[in-house]
Amino acid sequence: DTSRDFAPALIGWYDRHHRSLPWRVNPDERQQGVVPDPYRVWLSEIMLQQTTVAAVKAYFEKFVRLWPDVVALARAESDDVMKAWAGLGYYSRARNLKKCAEIVAFEHGGRFPDTEAGLKALPGIGDYTAAAIAAIAFDRPAVVVDGNIERVVTRFLVCETPLPQAKPEIRAFLSTVLPKDRPGDFAQAMMDLGATVCTPKSPACILCPLSDGCRARSEGTQTRFPLKAPK
Ligand code: ADE
Repeated sequence: DTSRDFAPALIGWYDRHHRSLPWRVNPDERQQGVVPDPYRVWLSEIMLQQTTVAAVKAYFEKFVRLWPDVVALARAESDDVMKAWAGLGYYSRARNLKKCAEIVAFEHGGRFPDTEAGLKALPGIGDYTAAAIAAIAFDRPAVVVDGNIERVVTRFLVCETPLPQAKPEIRAFLSTVLPKDRPGDFAQAMMDLGATVCTPKSPACILCPLSDGCRARSEGTQTRFPLKAPK
């Protein structure tokens, strides 16, 4: 049964091939009891909303150097935050970032809410970001879906429903294969697979941990997916 092997194969691949990104802890550190810092997860997810991983890295490093925790960011001058954000674009993200930091620091005692609903009540945090933070920072079994993940799943299933109508099918599939013990790593593994292996134009199926069960691969139709509804 292909969906039974999905998460173990993916997680095994992630343990060997995950990208080293500054907002992730490495698996060795995790074994020593270090868990992801919700502040760093939140900051990275806000920056990654409309910006590539490559462009975000340096900004992320600068922010955590200037403001190492949410209370420091809440106390910062807004002008300094806007200046540090300059170049990332979509400046409403920076204004919401500052507002969110103030609410978490001054109204939640410096701790981020640890549920999707609690996170979604904060400025700048929508469905995707709430699910990503809940899974990555708090190990909640949240279903995380971004463009990379949509591509991986629609290829695996040869999903003939176009986007965006396919979203419920994609979510249903992900919730059946989601490993309850490592939901954050599962989400980030899907993102990494989509970004580095199951790429839009020439997927490297030979390197893919999911190739055995992938229906598009067996039919040779990988690049047909995801189907998109005409605008
Ligand atoms: N894009 C959005 N969130 C990400 C994450 N945590 N890792 C890699 N790419 C991402």
